[in-house]
Amino acid sequence: MKKYECVNLTIDGDVATVQLNRPEKRNCLSPTLHRNMVDALKEVAAAKCKVLVVTGSGDSFSAGMDLEQCFLEPFDDPQRFIEINTPCFEWLTHLKDFPGVTVAKVNGWAFGGGFEIASICDIVIAAEESVWGLSEINFGIFPGGGATWSYAHNMTRKQALFYALTGATLTGKQAVDLGLATMAVPLKDLDAEVAKWVANLTQKGRAVLRKTKEVYEKSLGMTFQESIGWEMAKMWELSRETNDDWIRTALKSFAKREFKPGLQSYQLTKDV
Ligand code: ACO
Repeated sequence: MKKYECVNLTIDGDVATVQLNRPEKRNCLSPTLHRNMVDALKEVAAAKCKVLVVTGSGDSFSAGMDLEQCFLEPFDDPQRFIEINTPCFEWLTHLKDFPGVTVAKVNGWAFGGGFEIASICDIVIAAEESVWGLSEINFGIFPGGGATWSYAHNMTRKQALFYALTGATLTGKQAVDLGLATMAVPLKDLDAEVAKWVANLTQKGRAVLRKTKEVYEKSLGMTFQESIGWEMAKMWELSRETNDDWIRTALKSFAKREFKPGLQSYQLTKDV
């Protein structure tokens, strides 16, 4: 694993953790941090991790784009402005398309780009005390760079427009009610809660995790009838990729009453 200036990356078996690491600047996203994230996510992809946890160091998740280094300073040099900000779109796209499960552990401030990072992750576990906001309107722009897509895909219209138009903040607890977070727990319990669900996810097969996400995303754009056919095709593809493990291992084990699928995962034989 490489050492990065603004990101702490750890890879432990099937689990990668990326910690945004500029606590003195509330983990706002500087040009160096963007370049670090591009490289760190490439490392995670190469390691074929099942789960990627994204979090922040200190008391912040992320205060969004570095307003000085990314916007103010390069503004009068359009070419430099593009060069500085393009890596941001590159790594956010990688995060959104990550084949394993992405888990945002929202430990504190989450504004703008920080709000977006959480919104594009698959599962979000937030500290109840965390504070979120679409603060762009407070300095005269609208949420851009995928931020509008990401909040619009998580919230209802009335809630989305309220938060984008007013810049009002919300807590981790409210983020659950608004559809932005999966669950919220007191900050003191955040590490344990995330560890519990990461352990659950790593018991699942890599291929089935990937396919579950793929089928979910694609089915949103299909009619019910179209999705029945497509889901069946994908089911056979998964079966083939995993040497029919669901039949040959999981359901045989169930037939011997070795486990209850409603409550437990089966023991994977070979993870592909
Ligand atoms: N860009 C650049 N610097 C930042 C940012 C940011 N987004 N956020 C915080 N900082 C810097 C502060 O300027 C300060 O720097 P300094 O120590 O050199 O003075 C340092 O981080 C600490 O910030 P404070 O404001 O002192 O911390 P506090 O805990 O009181 O407040 C808060 C935290 C609420 C997050 C505040 O810093 C803030 O409002 N930041 C901006 C949030 C924001 O609107 N982000 C942009 C979202 S839009 C987008 O991402 C496109």
